[in-house]
Amino acid sequence: MASDELESFLEEHEQEKHVHDEHGSTSKRRRFPLTATLVATNIALLIACVFLATRLSSISNGDASNSSIRDPYSPANSIIEYEQRKMIFNDTRFTGYPSDKWEVFMHELLEGTLLRVSDSELQHQGFDSIPLEDGGYAAGLGVAHNLHCVKKIKMFLYRDYFYSDLDPEGAEFAHTQEHADHCLDWIRQSMMCHVDYAMYTLQWEEDGPRKGKLKHNEPGLQKCVNFDKLHDWMKGRSANSNMLQHPGDVGV
Ligand SMILES: *[C@@H]1O[C@H](CO)[C@@H](O)[C@H](O)[C@H]1NC(C)=O
Ligand SMILES: *[C@@H]1O[C@H](CO)[C@@H](O)[C@H](O)[C@H]1NC(C)=O
Repeated sequence: MASDELESFLEEHEQEKHVHDEHGSTSKRRRFPLTATLVATNIALLIACVFLATRLSSISNGDASNSSIRDPYSPANSIIEYEQRKMIFNDTRFTGYPSDKWEVFMHELLEGTLLRVSDSELQHQGFDSIPLEDGGYAAGLGVAHNLHCVKKIKMFLYRDYFYSDLDPEGAEFAHTQEHADHCLDWIRQSMMCHVDYAMYTLQWEEDGPRKGKLKHNEPGLQKCVNFDKLHDWMKGRSANSNMLQHPGDVGV
């Protein structure tokens, strides 16, 4: 279709040239108005382009980064930095049947879950929190809660490994299931807030046992928070539950 359009455009152009050649000297007289028309058309097109480009940039600003909506306060606001990264299709540190290795990787990922914030950082937020024995207050970032949730869901998926002593009819089992379910829904809402709008393309599986079945390709580079940088910041402020002051403690 596009090449048809291109050919007919070229044909028209060719015909025009023949007409000018045939007319010989008479075409000279017509050259000035033709040039003037072309110049005028070009100017008009240029104006239209500038106008559309301005419109487009304001539309895309509205879509992608509505500047009237700000990041809410977080002590980590200034730590957030973006980079381009690819997803790992099968990150075997975290996939598969759980093992001691999995626990180590998960433990490392969860370092900095509980962290120390200062008095003024707490005041920015406007909520109270539990003071730490040696100064500051206990807090955590949303990403740490989500990662904790990933751990809880994994543990419930492999409950034969983690909760083999739990009676499937008992209250403790029901509580564990409910916690995992809550976690899944928390992650759902977090994903729908911090939406991944990378485009996935599809193709038919060409061979193997899933031949003829639909599959998606991996998305390309994505805009991601530099997690290592953020995590270093979290680990630098990490606290633990032994540091929490309890209601009866002196010096609260
Ligand atoms: C930006 O967000 C505000 C508040 O939700 C909304 O009223 C406004 O229409 C948005 N602007 C654009 C260009 O999307
Ligand atoms: C991920 O890799 C492991 C180890 O190679 C493999 O056993 C497993 O099947 C892979 N999972 C997927 C979904 O490809």
